[in-house]
Amino acid sequence: MQTAHSTEEMKGLRRKCKGSVGFVPTMGYLHEGHLELVRLAKNENHIAVVSIFVNPTQFAPSEDFKAYPRDLDRDLALLESAGADIVFIPGDKDMYPAGYDTWVEVKGITQTLEGRSRPTHFQGVTTVCNKLFNIVQPNRAYFGQKDAQQALVIEKMVSDLNMNLEIVVAPTIREKDGLAMSSRNIYLTPEERRSAPVLHKALQLASDMYDKGERDAILIKNAMTRLITAVPAAKIDYISIADIETLREVNAIRGRVLISLAVKLGKPRLIDNVILG
Ligand code: PAJ
Repeated sequence: MQTAHSTEEMKGLRRKCKGSVGFVPTMGYLHEGHLELVRLAKNENHIAVVSIFVNPTQFAPSEDFKAYPRDLDRDLALLESAGADIVFIPGDKDMYPAGYDTWVEVKGITQTLEGRSRPTHFQGVTTVCNKLFNIVQPNRAYFGQKDAQQALVIEKMVSDLNMNLEIVVAPTIREKDGLAMSSRNIYLTPEERRSAPVLHKALQLASDMYDKGERDAILIKNAMTRLITAVPAAKIDYISIADIETLREVNAIRGRVLISLAVKLGKPRLIDNVILG
């Protein structure tokens, strides 16, 4: 496994790659969710490249950029065992030198859900992914269903800008009790951690209601809300049932919908989702 600590170094390693390149962008503090993406990238390509970069531009000033967990040595050991070939670890100044002034913005689907709660977030994500794609030049890039809106926004950017790569979205990896794995789960106190599977339970309740024939989105959202508000520490940011393409809220479920939710449990804000239909 090789490491590149600057964009120039990464471009140099890329020039030597033979065959297809699969790319997994991450912010590090890796868990099984990231590692499954790396294994998939390695399975489907000759070379697997992983980036570790806590991207400052996708955090609002009030958010946890400085406190975002970091452990590079541990990450590198995990990536080696998952079969990564190249790890790209650029510095902040390399990615955003003084005078940096170019932004990539997807409109429409970034205005709801995570984008409503975090208004500058997706512009940071699309800008950094665009830069990373230009540096790494992958044939395929791998994203997790865990961040469903992010995956849709990236697919839209790649399609709208005629970018020359394929986006692959892989299933959410969960703890045994259903909690979606996330680097931020370490911030949960033991008591919050015990309550955290309530997000997944609410999504399962929605799926069960749907399977039994319920198509009224308001009724399903109300049932999910009741389940979550039974946990005193939980503060719902949003519960959404939206059209999978426009991400607009629906009243009646007809085609494919994204059911998603964001809940603050103590300090961390957790998100999860399921696609139905
Ligand atoms: P990060 O949160 O580190 O996630 C990197 C990738 O891992 C994303 O595609 C995310 O959806 C995926 N992932 C996280 N948890 C997962 C889980 N439990 N199961 C499956 N996949 C999971 O997402 C980002 O970083 C950043 O926004 C990034 C795309 C790197 C841009 O900075």
